[in-house]
Amino acid sequence: MSYANSRIPASAQQGVHEHLAERVRTHLAHPFRKPFAAYNVAACDDALAGWDARAPLVLDAGCGVGHSTIELARMLPDHWVIGVDQSEERLQRKKPYPAALLPKNLVFVRADLVDFWRLLCERGVRLARHYILYPNPWPKIGHLGRRWPAHPVFPFIPKLGGVLECRSNWPVYVAEFALALDIVLGYSVQCNEYEAVQALTPFERKYRDSGQTLYRLCVDLDRAGS
Ligand SMILES: C[S@@+](CC[C@H](N)C(=O)[O-])C[C@H]1O[C@@H](n2cnc3c(N)ncnc32)[C@H](O)[C@@H]1O
Repeated sequence: MSYANSRIPASAQQGVHEHLAERVRTHLAHPFRKPFAAYNVAACDDALAGWDARAPLVLDAGCGVGHSTIELARMLPDHWVIGVDQSEERLQRKKPYPAALLPKNLVFVRADLVDFWRLLCERGVRLARHYILYPNPWPKIGHLGRRWPAHPVFPFIPKLGGVLECRSNWPVYVAEFALALDIVLGYSVQCNEYEAVQALTPFERKYRDSGQTLYRLCVDLDRAGS
């Protein structure tokens, strides 16, 4: 398979899903109370075990093979950076540095974000930066519920505060993320085209090198709307 031939998600859905707003309002009115799986509680303990409780926290949510987590830890040496993914296989994949040269201010944990985000909220954690980079788009109309903006866990994401950033190569995903945030926060959040001069993740590099337009939403939750 050749490298730079990635496709933009094909979908019959050309704009924000007609049922998204209603779903978000329902999720706001009925907070998600699914019990936590034990392995996610343990992963949350592990993620915070090496943290000194003072360093600003960064969450790379759905970090995949973790290249972005490593880059963020290098860029922000005084922060504690947590890379979370549900796939142990991706987390274990060979890193672009020898283990001895990996930054010490990061941790990788295998967890389901559906629990992990809520566990962070329950523990009163506040993030400085929160990245959701190239989440699975689930572009079919019937897949709405699998996209984070339409998931019952969504209202917990902005509760974590900090600068929240979502990037995708499917503009509908970012527009849905923005609409869901507008409803939860009560103010309007912008999304824009984004030029990834230095790709932060393998998916970003692949999409960029395939000539695709990238889209980004970035909001400082601790400042915006105030
Ligand atoms: C398209 S990949 C993007 C990976 C990486 N952010 C990048 O840009 O290279 C989406 C990632 O989200 C992870 N993921 C999807 N649902 C998840 C969940 N519920 N909990 C944790 N990780 C999840 C997948 O395992 C996958 O690695």
